[in-house]
Amino acid sequence: VLDLRTFFSDTGLFSYDPGYTSTASCRSNITFINGKKGELRYRGIPIEELATEHTYLETCYLLLNGELPSAQKLLAFDLEIRHRAFLHEGLRHLFNAFPDNAHPMATLSAAVTALASFYDEHLNMENGTEYLEMAHRIIAKIPTIAAFAYRHSLGIPFIQPDIDLAFTRNFLTMMRAYPGGKMHLGTEGHDEIKEVEVRALDTIFTLHADHEQNASTTVVRNVASTGAHPYVAIASGISALWGRAHGGANESVIAQLEMIGSVDRVDTFIAKAKDPDDPFRLMGFGHRVYKNFDPRARILKKLQDELKEEIGLNSHLMEIAEKVEEIALSDEYFISRNLYPNIDFYTGIILTALQIPKSMFTPVFVIGRTVGWITQWIEFKQDPQSKIARPRQLYSGQ
Ligand code: ACO
Repeated sequence: VLDLRTFFSDTGLFSYDPGYTSTASCRSNITFINGKKGELRYRGIPIEELATEHTYLETCYLLLNGELPSAQKLLAFDLEIRHRAFLHEGLRHLFNAFPDNAHPMATLSAAVTALASFYDEHLNMENGTEYLEMAHRIIAKIPTIAAFAYRHSLGIPFIQPDIDLAFTRNFLTMMRAYPGGKMHLGTEGHDEIKEVEVRALDTIFTLHADHEQNASTTVVRNVASTGAHPYVAIASGISALWGRAHGGANESVIAQLEMIGSVDRVDTFIAKAKDPDDPFRLMGFGHRVYKNFDPRARILKKLQDELKEEIGLNSHLMEIAEKVEEIALSDEYFISRNLYPNIDFYTGIILTALQIPKSMFTPVFVIGRTVGWITQWIEFKQDPQSKIARPRQLYSGQ
């Protein structure tokens, strides 16, 4: 048994807080969350306003610069991102080293680490202008890397970014086009990418852009604290995001709906989720901070309803998802624990409708979140109170 008096006389007083449920690791003025009210703001602007009145690139500019861009500044930012979307030829060879069935998250994380070796100069940056150039570069290249990782997993040739296309349309094109054309790779015909699809994905990117000190952002800040290259910090964030308790939940939600298989089996799985002796959890439900509806989930639920009208969604999975939601939202187990659907509950259904495969759901999250990670990296570097992250422990061994 630990003798606390001896222990504290050695170490001084500190808190023991597994999972950091009530420990602030930093001061930040990027993102505000009120978990009880279900509020989320980036730089003071409500997420609802950003999701409906602004594009993802405007949101990126806002996060990095603290204010929304003027029309002229947006034009310059947009052009710069388009120009920086290309990858060094050397990096292309890296993808071939991965097995065909490699999960795109593994390839993505490795390729971002490799990217650090192409931009050595970002290791010793001294001023804000250099930080912004480094940030723009990674924001621009992440969709290209993600699309290359996906195309490698299918064994089909890479599609280069197209300078004439805006950010989100460019990513969808790199995902879906045949070489030399703009034809669709989906199973439902050879349609062009529709504007409504681009808007839906752009909204998903915006909703993912930042979320204060979540697990992957904390990892990015911790790696930043050791002085490592910023892109290595981002690659570490990508690895942390992959887990199913975090960003990997979006892939697990659809896998779970497929496993449930039919509306009449929903009750059985809800019972499993409630059983204290069963490790099964309802994916896409619950959140460490939101003890009310996740505001991002509200926006996506509305978007899902709009898309139902405009492009048609996978109705079978939708029906199961709606049943899960209906039962869980009126069940005492979920109500008493404040377990509401989170953002990941809805992204999977929408991404499926955009013909993005399950293995790419978490890479889509990565694309949206990269701006948040890099903005937090910059804030960490510019905060005079920043220190190397080095928590203590309560020793309980011999
Ligand atoms: N299904 C069933 N029960 C749940 C669920 C769930 N999805 N989530 C939490 N619970 C229960 C727990 O069993 C626990 O019950 P108990 O008090 O009887 O022991 C209680 O609710 C509290 O759960 P914790 O694990 O302590 O909550 P925590 O804040 O640590 O975890 C988390 C939050 C990881 C998101 C959790 O709710 C979960 O695993 N959800 C499913 C995975 C998911 O959707 N992750 C995405 C989160 S959003 C994001 O990262 C983008």
